[in-house]
Amino acid sequence: MTTDPYARIAPRYDRLLEGFNAPLRAIGMKMLPPEAGMRVLDVGCGTGANLVPYIEAGCETFGLDASEAMLTQARNRLSGASHLTLGDAASMPYDDNLFDIVRASMFLHELAPVVTDDVIREMIRVTAPGGSLVLVDFATEDLTLRGRGLRVVSMIAERIAGREHHRNCRAYLGAGGIPGLTVASALTDTRSRVVGGGNMGIYVLAKGRESRPS
Ligand SMILES: C[S@@+](CC[C@H](N)C(=O)[O-])C[C@H]1O[C@@H](n2cnc3c(N)ncnc32)[C@H](O)[C@@H]1O
Repeated sequence: MTTDPYARIAPRYDRLLEGFNAPLRAIGMKMLPPEAGMRVLDVGCGTGANLVPYIEAGCETFGLDASEAMLTQARNRLSGASHLTLGDAASMPYDDNLFDIVRASMFLHELAPVVTDDVIREMIRVTAPGGSLVLVDFATEDLTLRGRGLRVVSMIAERIAGREHHRNCRAYLGAGGIPGLTVASALTDTRSRVVGGGNMGIYVLAKGRESRPS
């Protein structure tokens, strides 16, 4: 029996979620447009869809994911255009200060709270001074009526994804989501956009040239 929680959903993931993910990705790209030659890491890269526009922009791209099933989809999509690695974001196989952009979409909310700080520290460690994190995930703002509807649908999806998944997502929201990540206080110049009636946030956090993870 496989222990990969994404084994069943991976072949259908994009069909189900790309319509939701694509506009969020586009906002992140506008908030921090990539330049040719930049090194970009997508943490929890899943099927690799988020790497495509960075490849098109001439970046050298890297994807890290703990699911072999999701990486298989990414390999099929990107066919060698990106460096894809199976691994745990809490202990990344990359040198310090390597990437200009380190991004993660719909990833942080599914981490067990005990590992979240380690993952953020790793993301900061591998980001070059002067580089940035681009984080896309559930927001913790007040929800509009539409936002509440979207949140209900999202939470149903999280519940279908499994008990642990749902528990971690609730803990993430309870801790204040991305603005609540105190370990990220080493990062400066935070910019954010909240969309979907308060349901989703896109956050750009810069690693100052002197920043050190706390
Ligand atoms: C909800 S999917 C999001 C995929 C993609 N980022 C997107 O926006 O569609 C979460 C991804 O994070 C990966 N993941 C979860 N925990 C991880 C960890 N500790 N290290 C690396 N990847 C992890 C999962 O395997 C999955 O592919």
